[in-house]
Amino acid sequence: MKVVVVGTGYVGLVTGACLAEVGTDVVCVDVDAAKISRLEEGILPIYEPGLEEIVTRNFKNGRLKFSTSLEFSIPDAAVAFIAVGTPPGEDGSADLRYVLQVAREIGHHMTAPLVIVTKSTVPVGTAVKVNRAVKEALQDRSASIDYDVASNPEFLKEGAAVADFMKPDRIVVGVNNDRAAKVLEALYAPFLLNGHPILFMDVASAEMTKYAANAMLATKISFMNDIAGLCELVGADVNKVRKGIGSDPRIGSRFIYPGIGYGGSCFPKDVKALIRTGLEYDRRLRILEAVEAVNDDQKKVMFDKIFRHFDGQLKNKTIALWGLSFKPNTDDMREAPSLVLVASLLEAGASVRVFDPVAMHEAQKALGDAVEWCSDLYHAAEGADAVALVTEWNEFRLPDWKRIGARVLFDGRNIYDDVTLHKNGITYYGIGTIQPSIQKMITI
Ligand code: UDX
Repeated sequence: MKVVVVGTGYVGLVTGACLAEVGTDVVCVDVDAAKISRLEEGILPIYEPGLEEIVTRNFKNGRLKFSTSLEFSIPDAAVAFIAVGTPPGEDGSADLRYVLQVAREIGHHMTAPLVIVTKSTVPVGTAVKVNRAVKEALQDRSASIDYDVASNPEFLKEGAAVADFMKPDRIVVGVNNDRAAKVLEALYAPFLLNGHPILFMDVASAEMTKYAANAMLATKISFMNDIAGLCELVGADVNKVRKGIGSDPRIGSRFIYPGIGYGGSCFPKDVKALIRTGLEYDRRLRILEAVEAVNDDQKKVMFDKIFRHFDGQLKNKTIALWGLSFKPNTDDMREAPSLVLVASLLEAGASVRVFDPVAMHEAQKALGDAVEWCSDLYHAAEGADAVALVTEWNEFRLPDWKRIGARVLFDGRNIYDDVTLHKNGITYYGIGTIQPSIQKMITI
């Protein structure tokens, strides 16, 4: 079976590479010629563990090809995935311009029956629009060729995308007939071994599933961030509360870690888009409105703690940031809480020194020379008045505290413990943990 994947961004590249890895012939198509030639040289546009290896291997063995032309790749394909970007518009709604443009182009160039699959996260109703775009393109050239439009949302997590694709929790496929279901079941058969399920449903439900999944996960995080805020006020420790509630399987222990707000390309964008879809149907999604508001506030909590600790005197203070990316194992800086923190620190007159194991290059695009770029965590902490742990990279987990001169640490991900820090003479602030002011009262 030959498959075309349009869009070599995050989702498209992982999809194409992983399908090739199990033996499918794949052509990844992108309008960006420079990106395509870099991919042919094995240079990837993103950092993702394990991806470079499978891209290079499958490119060399000829199963994975790259092209800028749909005209040449579409005619002998059985499946075409649309995996181009759906950037949020001004009002939060997903911009479908690129998706529909690709749909039209596919309609212009297809010559044999084809299953057209939307892989990008697209609002409910997009498959209908894709269908219309393909139909119009076929009519333009007076062609009559069978095709189906299916929805197959992707649930991969950045930093674990290859593993998520190869061993999926589930594969969700929205189809309107058996013919498309059979083609996609055959395509995914290699991933279903060992009991990984494929769930067939109607197209609208598949489109909705993706948003509902991300909105639920974002809700869990904002809920815990809200609880963490209250824990600090009442003198409770959210780490204990988290374990206490997480051992109830109805709640579950995953995705209830408080922090400095969720970032990345999916949660912020999808929560906004779902709220927007609700409004189009005159329905306010009030829980999600709150999820978003809590998250915006959460991105400010680290600054507030730093500001209060130094009694608002941040001029001439130097703050070291450990980590910049929105989460570990990625260089993605989209909606990263670190950007909000850096902006507030600079505005308050502080100097900022930063280090991230892989996101420095991406971060430089946003921060330029406003901050000092350092070569490792110790270098960043040199001469700093405080350290702020922003992203929980593994290499930050066990620092040699003797080498850290700063006397205060703000832990945005609760990876350290106050006892160890205190032993090393460092004041510790976590998120939702017992704060130093309360700790003093308890000791008294
Ligand atoms: C997410 C979904 O998990 C994935 O299924 C979907 O396809 C795309 O969006 P991703 O954005 O890559 O994936 O990252 P994820 O690991 O889900 O983390 C998202 C954000 O939530 C990060 O900023 C992370 O730090 C934060 N988070 C996660 C928490 O603050 N607490 C948690 O308990 C878990």
